[in-house]
Amino acid sequence: MEKGGHLTLTGLFGHPVGHSRSPQMHNAAFAALGLPYVYVAFDVHPDRLRTAAESIRALGIRGVNVTIPHKVEVMKYLDRIAPEADMIGAVNTIVNENGVLVGHNTDGSGYVRSLLEETKLNLADAKVLVLGAGGAARAVVSALAMKGAGDILIVNRTREKGDELARRISSLCKAHSVTYDDLPELMQDVRLVVNTTSVGMYPQIEECPLDTSLLHEGLVVSDLIYNPLETRLLREARLRGAIPHGGLGMFVYQGAEAFTLWTSVEAPVAIMRKAIKEK
Ligand code: ATR
Repeated sequence: MEKGGHLTLTGLFGHPVGHSRSPQMHNAAFAALGLPYVYVAFDVHPDRLRTAAESIRALGIRGVNVTIPHKVEVMKYLDRIAPEADMIGAVNTIVNENGVLVGHNTDGSGYVRSLLEETKLNLADAKVLVLGAGGAARAVVSALAMKGAGDILIVNRTREKGDELARRISSLCKAHSVTYDDLPELMQDVRLVVNTTSVGMYPQIEECPLDTSLLHEGLVVSDLIYNPLETRLLREARLRGAIPHGGLGMFVYQGAEAFTLWTSVEAPVAIMRKAIKEK
């Protein structure tokens, strides 16, 4: 703690928040760099979201992460929305700039940073297939398009939502909504598959969001799920000579980017990753 006990407060608004690994990750990072900050998880009931958002200003909180179910709803209580959050249509990080609340989204950019660092994929050449069209897909697809992916296919159980997401990003790149039946024909050209659905998440660990016969050598297969660390999809990918990329890195880097927005200091990513694993 800083001399005199003055701490800068950051935290998380969600409901529930009991299982979040963010406090452990951020507090380990603050401690490692000797920064006088603390990160607290606040269980904010949806009926109290407006009051909670106002409390950021009232209490001089430097910023918070926002998680389920508040990522979209919280936007109306903020003063400004950064371009990436606007494109995604959701906020996962709020920064209190001297009383002005600014909404950011670091989920998509955190995902892409983790993907590029861990797989060395060249996005500009890569045709991408995204499984799912929910909130996580919006973040990932927007960031991939903003970071240079030129050609994105979206497949979703509910076709209309896939169509809508493809339309939403069509100003940034070539984007098409396709059906699961189209995949055998399309798969040869795909270089990156990203699972943004919850299929395969604990406890349904034997479920797989894609017919595994479609996985081929050299393909990068990315799964946003990090519980378990190796999903059935990633295991099948590895066994077929594809390059697996798990969801833990996205979680670490979305946190790292929020950390930098609040502190203006580069985040100690290795320490943050280690802190999560220890939990
Ligand atoms: P998140 O914010 O995590 O993306 P979401 O917005 O509820 O959560 O989106 C969940 C995504 O997973 C959706 O694309 C959903 O498909 P639908 O739009 O058809 O609901 C997809 N999904 C969830 N369970 C699925 C399942 N059993 N099979 C296929 N897709 C599934």
